[in-house]
Amino acid sequence: MSDYVIECHNLETAYVGSLNRPILNEISCHIKQGEFVVLLGLNGAGKSTLLRSLVGLVPLVKGEVHINGVAMNSRILPQIRRDVGMLFQGGGLIPQLSAIENVLCGRLGTRTTWQTLFGFPKRDRLLALELLEQLGLRELAYQRTSKLSGGQQQRVAIARALIQSPQILLADEPTTGLDVIATQQVMETLAELHTQQGMTVVAVLHDLGMAARYAQRAIVLDAGRIVYEGSCDNLQAQFVVNNQ
Ligand SMILES: Nc1ncnc2c1ncn2[C@@H]1O[C@H](COP(=O)(O)OP(=O)(O)OP(=O)(O)O)[C@@H](O)[C@H]1O
Ligand SMILES: [Mg+2]
Repeated sequence: MSDYVIECHNLETAYVGSLNRPILNEISCHIKQGEFVVLLGLNGAGKSTLLRSLVGLVPLVKGEVHINGVAMNSRILPQIRRDVGMLFQGGGLIPQLSAIENVLCGRLGTRTTWQTLFGFPKRDRLLALELLEQLGLRELAYQRTSKLSGGQQQRVAIARALIQSPQILLADEPTTGLDVIATQQVMETLAELHTQQGMTVVAVLHDLGMAARYAQRAIVLDAGRIVYEGSCDNLQAQFVVNNQ
């Protein structure tokens, strides 16, 4: 059994409609159970594309992705999406729905359409409320998410990713647009999941100071390729050299 929960071997991906224009090239990386890894790179470097590839949202042109030692294919995607929670860049919430309904959306992958028609079982609703409580949002559970602040919305998105009890959390720019207090709350939430529950976290961040503070290891992408992989010491120098 492999030590790694995420392995990419020579990954090449492209978007449907432009399959001849690869976005990621020769990506090989390994992430261990319980690591906190930060993904860095300039706008357009391919960070979101890499995270999406890990949950099968972008077609692989070449290479392989293994999650928990199993090669990704369409048959095991439901399992992968249960094991791997994703916080999308910009939150990806449905603004017309309440906070709790958005959190329950994180359960849709585990239910048939028929089951969904009859609503969510009480235990799912209680779990959603418990998660919102843990994230300091219990009073806002029935508020439309469009009426919540950016930081509150981001915490709803975290609760939605956590309701499936994922083993791995992929967080795409979890703090972009948040004020200093909300940023700290969101990062502390991720840090707690990592230290207290041993969750593997891969987060895209743009702030090098925050990367060094929270992550154990950094991967820097430039134009779809990995240009640095290693410790977060001296990240400023690594980042500048690799992006000149
Ligand atoms: N849905 C899509 N269809 C086609 N090309 C896309 C799509 N999404 C992204 N791209 C292209 O893929 C490249 C990488 O985009 P990606 O969103 O992965 O970058 P990023 O590193 O996350 O940037 P940012 O820091 O701005 O979020 C860009 O050239 C972008 O134009
Ligand atoms: Mg992005």
